[in-house]
Amino acid sequence: MLSKVIIPVAGLGTRVLPASKAIPKEMLPVVDKPVIQHVVEEAARAGFRQIVLVTRSGKESIENHFDANYELEQMLALKNKTALLNAVENSLPKGIEVISVRQPSAKGLGHAVLCAAHVIGSEDFAVMLPDMVIDDEGLASDFSEMVKRYQKNGSGQIMVEGVPQEHVDRYGIVDCGGQQLTAGAGAPIHGMVEKPPVDQAPSNQAIVGRYILPNRVMELLKTTQPGAGGEIQLTDAMLELLSESTMEAYSMRGTVYDCGNKAGLLQANLAFGLKHPETADAMRDFLAKKQF
Ligand code: G1P
Repeated sequence: MLSKVIIPVAGLGTRVLPASKAIPKEMLPVVDKPVIQHVVEEAARAGFRQIVLVTRSGKESIENHFDANYELEQMLALKNKTALLNAVENSLPKGIEVISVRQPSAKGLGHAVLCAAHVIGSEDFAVMLPDMVIDDEGLASDFSEMVKRYQKNGSGQIMVEGVPQEHVDRYGIVDCGGQQLTAGAGAPIHGMVEKPPVDQAPSNQAIVGRYILPNRVMELLKTTQPGAGGEIQLTDAMLELLSESTMEAYSMRGTVYDCGNKAGLLQANLAFGLKHPETADAMRDFLAKKQF
């Protein structure tokens, strides 16, 4: 049974300040939808039904975005603005439920995931990092592929992509024993390390922010000690799991945009804006005419 996905949204968004001073970074737009909506839609496409937000004070607008806005909806209905009404009503995809829990202190990703343990119960679950917006480029979604692989072989799945060697210290890095990864395929993981020094990384395969995890990880997180950056790291709990069961690195085919930083957010807006029916032509004209 795989129906719940944890999305930790308690981060402060320091990399996109001052834009994220009074609104959550997850509410910054990629074209006409906030970043978090793109991520929730990806979860819905992969078959998840319950979104567990791990949140904090000051980020209530995320929950409001996925709730009804009666006044607005009534006004749009009265004015027969059907397309807009649909867009507003479907900000939360049909059949999806949002549950929120709080992370009372910023102790790291592993701690955030553990804050949702009582909602997850005894089920296996997924984790999605909300900064990462994935453009599947018309292919079957990478996240759906991970779900399929998990359902077939029962192994935990971690989405990865190759990054420049000099950037490996920004990510969790997996060790697949030197095996060459093929996009759209998986490989057994031998080890992993959170933000290794550049000269000590076992590979350049970085954890992208999509995970499918056996319930056992929750148990392991309870005793995981602070690691890189003094935080309780999900990577460390997953490494412990590796001594008990197999896990796979799934090499993504799509393109990932890190919308938690300024360049990534702009790139996502450019890429999605060039595809959106309402903005594609204007964007293309602008890029063609303007001398940069
Ligand atoms: C987290 C994870 C890391 C992963 C990264 C992807 O780190 O701990 O393993 O590679 O997200 O963005 P953070 O960016 O929260 O420091």
